[in-house]
Amino acid sequence: MKILIIGSGGREYAIGRALKQDENVEKIWFAPGNGATDELGENLDITDFDALADFAEANGVDLTIVGPEAPLVEGIVNVFKARGLTIFGPTAKAAQLEGSKIFMKNFLARHNVPTARYIETDSLEDAYSFINSLEAPIVVKADGLCGGKGVIIAQSHDEAKKAAGEMLSGNAFGEAGTKIVVEEFLDGYELSVFAICDGKDYVVLPAAQDHKRLLNNDEGPNTGGMGAYAPTPLVNEDIYRKLDERVIKPTLKGMEEEGMPFTGVLFIGVMVVKGEPIILEYNVRFGDPECEELMPLLKSPASELFYKAATGDLKNAKIEFHDKYAVGVVMASKDYPYKSSPPAEIIIDEIHHEDVRENTHIAFAGVSRGEDGKLYATGGRVLVCVGLGESIKEARDRAYMLVGQVHFAGKQCRTDIAYQAL
Ligand code: AMP
Ligand code: GLY
Repeated sequence: MKILIIGSGGREYAIGRALKQDENVEKIWFAPGNGATDELGENLDITDFDALADFAEANGVDLTIVGPEAPLVEGIVNVFKARGLTIFGPTAKAAQLEGSKIFMKNFLARHNVPTARYIETDSLEDAYSFINSLEAPIVVKADGLCGGKGVIIAQSHDEAKKAAGEMLSGNAFGEAGTKIVVEEFLDGYELSVFAICDGKDYVVLPAAQDHKRLLNNDEGPNTGGMGAYAPTPLVNEDIYRKLDERVIKPTLKGMEEEGMPFTGVLFIGVMVVKGEPIILEYNVRFGDPECEELMPLLKSPASELFYKAATGDLKNAKIEFHDKYAVGVVMASKDYPYKSSPPAEIIIDEIHHEDVRENTHIAFAGVSRGEDGKLYATGGRVLVCVGLGESIKEARDRAYMLVGQVHFAGKQCRTDIAYQAL
């Protein structure tokens, strides 16, 4: 099988790495890829959807997998499908589940999926009066895509009103913030649950937990995610069952009934409050860094999972996972998440301990290949050190042993990934 992967992060590296180990896969392209994906396949400098479809057609690509949300929301799947090309991901309409928080919240309400109490509005007056009816903290969200920055957890009523005002005036996030969602704060623990969907059927992956704050003990600013692990023992059979019955089934049925059957990754951001899973948000793609831990847990060929999902054939797939744990620690550049950092050469020491060498690997993200052939840290989240083990502790210890072997100027990482499970 020949496969084209759209994206350039650690998530796309991890998908490529899983496919590279799959004997059914003969060739992988990345568009655009990063400085390390060229070790797994070939990088392409193409971004235009029609040009990508031309490439897929001309080169006999059997399957295209879309990593990030932006091309999905912009309709890459529609372009490929219109030309009869097989692509894994939701259509633009279905991708509104992530592209518009108002669409998502109203969808959840229509289908009785549990979520935080909210209003959607473009009126400051309505926002103020709803804010007054809530107790702090209060959550204010821009409607559109803001690269993960559009959510403010306000600690007081005044702060919530200020955030609402800045968003609605267009000053905070431009057009993406001129409609907002105001909602109650949910106090619990957060999970990332992923269902691979083919429009009708689905496969639920082992539940993961991300660490969104920059610093240990969940302090500091929000980031794209500083590390994750799976499966998390914070999900028991009862929570899986509730997610299945109250969330995944009604969502897929609702999407089908509303004429936009969902194909691709349904990423369910869950807050567990007193044992009840409440939906914070949907995304329509894999989490990053969660994907970097989930891909190595996949025992079945990765191509089978993605291809059968893309062609509506998941009911004929038998997808299995390793009975193991994976922990991933993000190594970020010096000034992440505030601003970009100067390029820094990455040096990776040889790992002498066989046990660590065989149970760890790096998923590369914000890296570029220099003209000298060396790898440089050039992005915010540079790479993810992944450890596998029979227990979370073993996987975590291995991941951190690998972290100790990776060097670049200004590197920063959390030292407490998976603490809630240990
Ligand atoms: P979102 O983009 O909606 O997932 O929001 C980003 C982060 O803000 C989430 O991962 C949560 O940590 C937090 N968050 C969002 N909504 C709420 C809420 N209603 N209550 C508590 N935390 C929230
Ligand atoms: N790790 C969270 C996300 O990808 O949105």
